Amino acid sequence: MYISKSLPLLFIVLLLFFVNCKKQAAQCIEPDPSIDCTSGLKEIAPYPIGLATATFYLQEPAYDSILRQNFNSLTAEWQMKQNIIHIAEGSYNWQPMDDLVDYAQQNNIRIHGHALLWHGATPKWIEDYEGTSEEFEAIIKDYIQTVVGRYKGKITSWDVVNEAFKDNSGNLRATVFKKWMGDDYIARCFQYAREADPDVLLFYNDFNLPSSSSKCQAVLDMVEDFKARNIPIDGIGLQMHLQLQWPSDQQIQKTVEQIVETGLKIHFSELDVRLNDAGRLDSLTTEQAEKQAARYCQIARFHNQIPTEQQYGISIWGLRDSDSWIPQFFGNEDWPLLFDQNLKTKPAYEAFQKGLCE
Ligand code: XIL
Repeated sequence: MYISKSLPLLFIVLLLFFVNCKKQAAQCIEPDPSIDCTSGLKEIAPYPIGLATATFYLQEPAYDSILRQNFNSLTAEWQMKQNIIHIAEGSYNWQPMDDLVDYAQQNNIRIHGHALLWHGATPKWIEDYEGTSEEFEAIIKDYIQTVVGRYKGKITSWDVVNEAFKDNSGNLRATVFKKWMGDDYIARCFQYAREADPDVLLFYNDFNLPSSSSKCQAVLDMVEDFKARNIPIDGIGLQMHLQLQWPSDQQIQKTVEQIVETGLKIHFSELDVRLNDAGRLDSLTTEQAEKQAARYCQIARFHNQIPTEQQYGISIWGLRDSDSWIPQFFGNEDWPLLFDQNLKTKPAYEAFQKGLCE
């Protein structure tokens, strides 16, 4: 009796909820005539908007012009990683990195260094190291201090350690750094970086923090431990390699709130929105493009909600769909970025603009 009387009410509540959700997504797609959201991303965003790039793209005039119009932060998609620059002990390949840094400086663009230590970009000679722990530590210390020192005053921030924790357990990954330097290696790397540049901002960067509560907890515990021991750390990079529905908005919101509580800066690093994880699409459909647009808009909104002094900005992991790492890494064609292969803006671009404006 009670159930049947409540059913219409339940129906109305669900309907209102559904309409409201649709409205929220739609607001990101319909341009709001009261706000001029049509200029470049960097003009309208109240915080820096970054791009992961590489030197050879900068030779393309159209690419270069879009970059300068829209982005005021830059990182190297791979040209600042250890496997590229640290070719042998005491020996470095500086050219690509120098070129990126020069380009950024000439155009008044902030540089975020990515990444000093990452198990995914460790040179073979480091992976294959055989020797004493002391020697290994001396090599890593010298590497960190040489790189950070060389770009002192030019590079604003560094991802000091990237992806050190495992998804499921939150335990430390078994990397060559852990093997030779022990479980406290992250703290010492942050200290080495700080010694080389007292002003550079030091970040810990990782993926899947919203979807893996144990990994997120491991990062929060690390921050607390660093604070208790006076180990320098300035920010957390939340890699934002997203799918349409995953992780959920609620999971992202919760993680952002947890990191806000640490008082550190938050960088939405490495944003892209993957559409074709199941491999069912042959081309980008209007429906998928609009759903992707809504997701980009929502991510901007989440960043808008971070207290101003903790907003480090949003960095997009590549300019054109055809530049993206996703097809190669995940094995399916995809369209995860703001521009298509012809450098035309996608619905995601406008929706992201709109989200930045709110
Ligand atoms: C990827 C780049 O996009 C590729 O071009 C490169 O070959 C491998 O690395 N998490 C990270 C990034 O922190 O450095 C990765 O970038 C993507 C996943």
